[in-house]
Amino acid sequence: MQFAQRIDDQMDSNLEALLAAPAAGQVSFAGGLPDPQLFPERELSSAFSQALTTAGAQCLQYASAAGYEPLRQKIAHFLRRDGVPASTNTVMLTQGAQQALDLTARLFINPGDGLVVEGPTYAGALAAFDAYQPHYLSIPVRSDGMDMTILRQTLEQHPVKLLYTVPDFQNPTGTVMSLRKRKQLLALAREFDFIILEDAPYRSLRYRGIGLPTLRELDTDDRVIHVGSFSKILSPGLRLGWLTATPALLSRLITLKSGADLETSNLMMRAIDSYLNTNDLGQHIRQLRSTYAAKQEAMSTALQAGLPQGVGCSQPDGGFFLWVTLPEGCDSERILSRCRDHVTFVPSTTLYAARNDRRGIRLAFTNPSTDDIQRGCAELCNSIRQELVMVNSTKQLQQRN
Ligand SMILES: Cc1ncc(COP(=O)(O)O)c(C=O)c1O
Repeated sequence: MQFAQRIDDQMDSNLEALLAAPAAGQVSFAGGLPDPQLFPERELSSAFSQALTTAGAQCLQYASAAGYEPLRQKIAHFLRRDGVPASTNTVMLTQGAQQALDLTARLFINPGDGLVVEGPTYAGALAAFDAYQPHYLSIPVRSDGMDMTILRQTLEQHPVKLLYTVPDFQNPTGTVMSLRKRKQLLALAREFDFIILEDAPYRSLRYRGIGLPTLRELDTDDRVIHVGSFSKILSPGLRLGWLTATPALLSRLITLKSGADLETSNLMMRAIDSYLNTNDLGQHIRQLRSTYAAKQEAMSTALQAGLPQGVGCSQPDGGFFLWVTLPEGCDSERILSRCRDHVTFVPSTTLYAARNDRRGIRLAFTNPSTDDIQRGCAELCNSIRQELVMVNSTKQLQQRN
């Protein structure tokens, strides 16, 4: 059997393992999973039956590749309230944000084309992009977003067609791109003529501080494709996301979507529309914020108390993730293999385009209970301490020899 070249080139991002339920007795900080206690099960159940009882035949029929119009209208309204210029005709519905990433890469990337990603970045984005065989250019993420000096140097040396960023509560570091950097990035996109793919599934989940305008809002020459999703604010099982872009880009993306899956599930789109007709999504998001803020606090406190000196930890103001940075010589894969019976996380190896960095740990705090967060952090800190002891004694041995 001979697979396509792109299959041979594809690296395993381990997404299946990330989304797997934890084994008995194990605490998982691995997958970016919402807290299931916060799923509005009853409300969604009545929204589904409402959609089927009032418009059963239409729900069960083919509809349109762009998506159910009343739902696009609501999403456009939601986006405009956030400052994003959007109308029913510039929004398209996708199977989760993930499909928006795939379709955008399909639209722009030929094998070998320059694609800028953050380092580290979202593993699922790399999994989607790999299929188009880009030439990855990875830009380090600082506490206020991508390093713009390195980005400029990179753009001066390599042609780039597309840049992928998660400016709000980045996956995996939790950082927010500053306003200054947002403006710099847009200026660079103009100067070097590339498209920006702005992925914003965590944007509504801010626990402290004031939000910054999206890149799409600041975009004056239509270079930004803005992506959102119901996965983190309602439920990932719905598989419903959206993107907004100029009508010219959108019509090409709709054609690609038709080829990929014809359209998003009509029943799903109508049920979510029905949910939004009778429920206050804003109120639901406020509830998520308060629960997740407490969990983030619990994880930060446990890590501050338990992490050895020299190990860094981010302090995000929102989103799902904390990022731990290990000292030189440490290996997050080794730490994971030591503690995986008790606690799991995502080691940095899968989160860089070159899959080569071993000094980072991504911790998702939204899914486990506060008790499990404390238990899992204690195990993790213990395993990191053992790693440091091992690394330091190896260094001492090498110095002596
Ligand atoms: C940054 C980012 N983009 C996209 C996705 C995919 O989201 P969806 O479930 O909407 O496909 C995720 C999921 O974790 C994510 O973290």
